[in-house]
Amino acid sequence: MSDISTFYATLEETVKAGKWPHIIESGEGAYLTILGKKKLNFCSSHYLGLAVDPRLSEAVSAAAKEYGIGTGYRTLAGTHKLHLELEEAIATFKGTEKAVTFSSAYMANAAAIQTILGKEDIVISDELNHASIIDAVRLSGVTNKFIYKHGDVNSLEEKLQEADKVRKTPKADGKNPLTLIVTDGVFSMDGDLAPLPGIVKLAKKYDALTMVDDAHGEGVLGKGGRGIVNHFGLEGQVDIEVGSLSKAFSVMGGFIAGNKTLIEYYMLKARQRLFSIALTIPDTAASLKAVQILLESDAPVKKLWDNVKYLQEGFKKLGFDTGNSQTPIIPVMLGDEEIARQFSAKLFEEDVFATPIIFPMVAQGKARIRVIASASFSKEDMDKGLKAFEKVEKELGVLH
Ligand SMILES: Cc1ncc(COP(=O)(O)O)c(C=O)c1O
Repeated sequence: MSDISTFYATLEETVKAGKWPHIIESGEGAYLTILGKKKLNFCSSHYLGLAVDPRLSEAVSAAAKEYGIGTGYRTLAGTHKLHLELEEAIATFKGTEKAVTFSSAYMANAAAIQTILGKEDIVISDELNHASIIDAVRLSGVTNKFIYKHGDVNSLEEKLQEADKVRKTPKADGKNPLTLIVTDGVFSMDGDLAPLPGIVKLAKKYDALTMVDDAHGEGVLGKGGRGIVNHFGLEGQVDIEVGSLSKAFSVMGGFIAGNKTLIEYYMLKARQRLFSIALTIPDTAASLKAVQILLESDAPVKKLWDNVKYLQEGFKKLGFDTGNSQTPIIPVMLGDEEIARQFSAKLFEEDVFATPIIFPMVAQGKARIRVIASASFSKEDMDKGLKAFEKVEKELGVLH
């Protein structure tokens, strides 16, 4: 066999063994239609139900009619006045001096780290940080990487001490290496929070920059969903805040929010902005409307939290282990991968859509069904979901 045939044979093996997702035929609110049947949507990160909010689709239609669809490259002929309106609204929402958008939060994380760090600098990262942060660190070429135990400020301080020697050794340009502490705000597989006050305190002590990826905190935590920095009352004390427009805002895109100088530096230098397309008009208009909705009212966030409490209590009453969840992300721990797969398949038969989370998304032996609460659920919807979990648990006997 030639090298190319071997290569394709290897791909084919993987493709044949692959698991393909269900196709959604309609809906993105409390219910989805899959295989022609309505299923309770128990695993979407559209926390506030904005994906099917008519105010967003109306904003999209009006903007598309007025401005068309495509934009371009932000540094050439692609900066539209709607982009600037969106960035201003995001900065107002986050309480930062400025914000810059990208085509996804994956891109925003890449830009946030790659643009400011080089080979000789230092990154200190939580062991459970999202893949996009891990890839961003790789892309930056940083060789001094220190990984601290998940959510553990003592472990973080140990790593800062280890890094101190490197930090005090000047780089080729004569400056000391820069240290960046980076963490998810809400951890997407467990729903727990980063210990941000402790991180900020240590960052000050060790002269480090701080970065938080608040993809699952925006629209969820803090006053009116302002995010994790607001939740902990740390405004102005976290250097780099990355956000996603694809979770609570239910559109697509990502952003970095922070002080004016830093954001303007990103605007000039981030390769993800120089060499990749800007958000389209419909994405920008929908995101702008979503941010405006939250600037005007905290009602959707309040509704979300009522539902979070109801579901968390419901799962506890049924005897399920939901880990350290403090947010709408509720991991129903099952441990074994095969059980998690079977559990999800049986829930599907009960018209509840909740996908299994298995290795490599989580460590081996830590499989789970990740339920995500949404403001779009009624009490009846949540009872339907909880009843299905109770029934399937009885059938599989996972708790006994
Ligand atoms: C913590 C975290 N950061 C970043 C991302 C990437 O977001 P986006 O879909 O906007 O690229 C995700 C998406 O799953 C995430 O969970």
